[in-house]
Amino acid sequence: MKLFIDTAEIHEIEAAAKTGLIDGVTTNPSLVAKAGQPFEKLLLRICELVDGPISAEVTTVTAQDMIAQGKTLAKLHKNIVVKLPLTWAGLEACKALSEQEIKTNVTLCFTEVQAMMAAKAGATYVSPFVGRLDDIGQDGMALIRGIRQVYDHYHFETQILVASIRHVDHMRQSILAGGDVGTLPYKVFQQLLSHPLTDSGLARFMKDWETMKG
Ligand code: G3P
Repeated sequence: MKLFIDTAEIHEIEAAAKTGLIDGVTTNPSLVAKAGQPFEKLLLRICELVDGPISAEVTTVTAQDMIAQGKTLAKLHKNIVVKLPLTWAGLEACKALSEQEIKTNVTLCFTEVQAMMAAKAGATYVSPFVGRLDDIGQDGMALIRGIRQVYDHYHFETQILVASIRHVDHMRQSILAGGDVGTLPYKVFQQLLSHPLTDSGLARFMKDWETMKG
C-alpha cells in the first residue's frame, strides 16, 4: 500500500520525507490556504521534497476552466496529479485530461456510484473521505470495502486513495479493506508506529542489557 502525506505545510512534508517512507503528497484548497504560500511556488517546493505523485486541486467551476487550469498545473512538474471534484464538470475535465495522459485524482467521493463514475471517466485515483462520512454517523470504511468490490468486479484500474483519515485505526482498516493508497495528516503519520507494548518491550530489553553489562 502506498503512503501519502495529506498536508501543504513544508516543515511537515520535510519531516515525513526524511523517513524515506512517503510515496506522495495530497493537498486541497483548504490545506494550501492554511499554508499561506503562493500555490505554484508551494507545489514546486513539494515536488523537490517528494519524488512521487503530488495532488494539486483545481479551483475553477466549469469543465473548460478545470481543463485549462489542470493543464497549467500539470505543466509545472511531471509528478503533478490534477485533483478534480466529483461533479459532472469535474468528471468531464477528468475524461479530457486523462485522454491527454494527465494524471487525475477525483476527490470528495462519498458513494460507490460516484467512485464507479470517476473510474469510467478515467481517474488515476479516487479519493473517498472516510472521516467525513464518520462525522455524519455513517461508516466511512464500509465505503472503502464497497469501492474495492466494485473496482475488482469490473476490473477498473483507478486506485483507491483513502482520504480524510483521522486516526491510526482508519489506516489499519484501510490496509485490511484493500485501499491502494492512504493519505495521512502529519499528526497521524507520526503515530503510525506507536504501541505501548513496543515501548515497554524496548525499555525492558535495554534495562536487561544494562544488567548483563553490570
Ligand atoms: O485532502 C482531503 C482530505 O484528506 C481531507 O480530510 O480531515 O479535512 O476531512 P479532512
